[in-house]
Amino acid sequence: MLAGKRILLIVAGGIAAYKTPDLVRHLRERGAVVRCVLTDGGAQFVTPLTLGAVSEDKVYDSLFSLTDEHEMGHINLSRQADALLVAPATANMLAKIAQGLADDLATTLLLATDKPVLVAPAMNVRMWGHPATQANIDTLAGRGVTVIGPNEGDMACGEYGMGRMSEPLEIAAAIENFFAANGRLTGSRALVTSGPTYEPIDPVRYIANRSSGKQGHAIAEALMRLGTKTTLVTGPTQQPDPPGVQVVHVESARQMLVACEAALPAEIAVCAAAVADWRVDTQTDQKLKKNTGAPPPPLMMTENPDILQTLSNAKNTRPGLVVGFAAETENVIANAQAKLARKGCDWIVANDVSPNTETFAGDANTVHLVTADSVEDWPRLSKAEVGERLADRIADALEAGHG
Ligand code: C5P
Repeated sequence: MLAGKRILLIVAGGIAAYKTPDLVRHLRERGAVVRCVLTDGGAQFVTPLTLGAVSEDKVYDSLFSLTDEHEMGHINLSRQADALLVAPATANMLAKIAQGLADDLATTLLLATDKPVLVAPAMNVRMWGHPATQANIDTLAGRGVTVIGPNEGDMACGEYGMGRMSEPLEIAAAIENFFAANGRLTGSRALVTSGPTYEPIDPVRYIANRSSGKQGHAIAEALMRLGTKTTLVTGPTQQPDPPGVQVVHVESARQMLVACEAALPAEIAVCAAAVADWRVDTQTDQKLKKNTGAPPPPLMMTENPDILQTLSNAKNTRPGLVVGFAAETENVIANAQAKLARKGCDWIVANDVSPNTETFAGDANTVHLVTADSVEDWPRLSKAEVGERLADRIADALEAGHG
């Protein structure tokens, strides 16, 4: 399955381009998010309207559209993808990529990207067999580009031989194999907590922490993209369930702990939830009535389980790498270091949530990654980028033998 994988599909100018709407459908049926880039040649064979309709997204077709550059720069287009797929990859397109030419949006993206590139060649049998094309294919393969096909068969030009683009279903399967084999964290399991918890006072009232769930959800999604089998245990939020992630919805801290323990074993745990420290001990089954003139009911509180601390100290099921969050309004680093020691986790992601930072509910976050012996200050990033960067650092740590 390709759940949540973002594929930037570059359609070049070959007759096989007429199959790309079908390819988009097959990729999306497998859960992928597909965004299309059309070269001028590609636009001779398939329209932006068709690709836009099947991808349910804008189709990008000109490097020089200033509004596109303003809304979505060409670097961002590849940054927001997990892989670039060129289908059909014409002989001309392969030559340009091999040479590093960048004279339109598609080739500029391909030169500017650091994401994996896959190509599905499609051309006449003699163009495919030409030493120039074969040398270009060798060059690209040597640089780590994945070549899908081509197939042997009848050609649009009336000839027979190698050069037919692989069928859309074959390309979709090749992409699936690619992701299955290439996720840095393939084979590991991750548990992520997100959102607030609701602690009931009576059947209609509750106390809660402020939390949009944006950061926790972004971390779960980023870990999933690196290949982890990810469980996201979340309190009530407005965030949609990330595709490809197993989501468990809970309300209270105690429910969250039960759901987290049920999600073990896992190699990675990231506790980003804003768990209420206390719950109401005097919780009633009936709604508390307001009696005019009577004093307000006192609320007795009792301490909630600390999920991060419980996971960090679990005897047999402790995840190899446990990451906590620290939302602080002052002495951010010192408080995070103290929290790391107190909770027994491996890392703390510390963020300043004082009122002027607009971190709550906002899309950006400024964080520090605090470990037992280091502090990394990260620049202000979107919450999605913080998620990706944290997932990358987790993959680095696991590859280095942590956990
Ligand atoms: O102690 P404090 O709430 O500041 O610690 C924050 C970190 O601890 C976060 O990672 C949060 O998810 C986690 N936490 C928890 N269970 C609690 C309280 C906090 O997992 N009851």
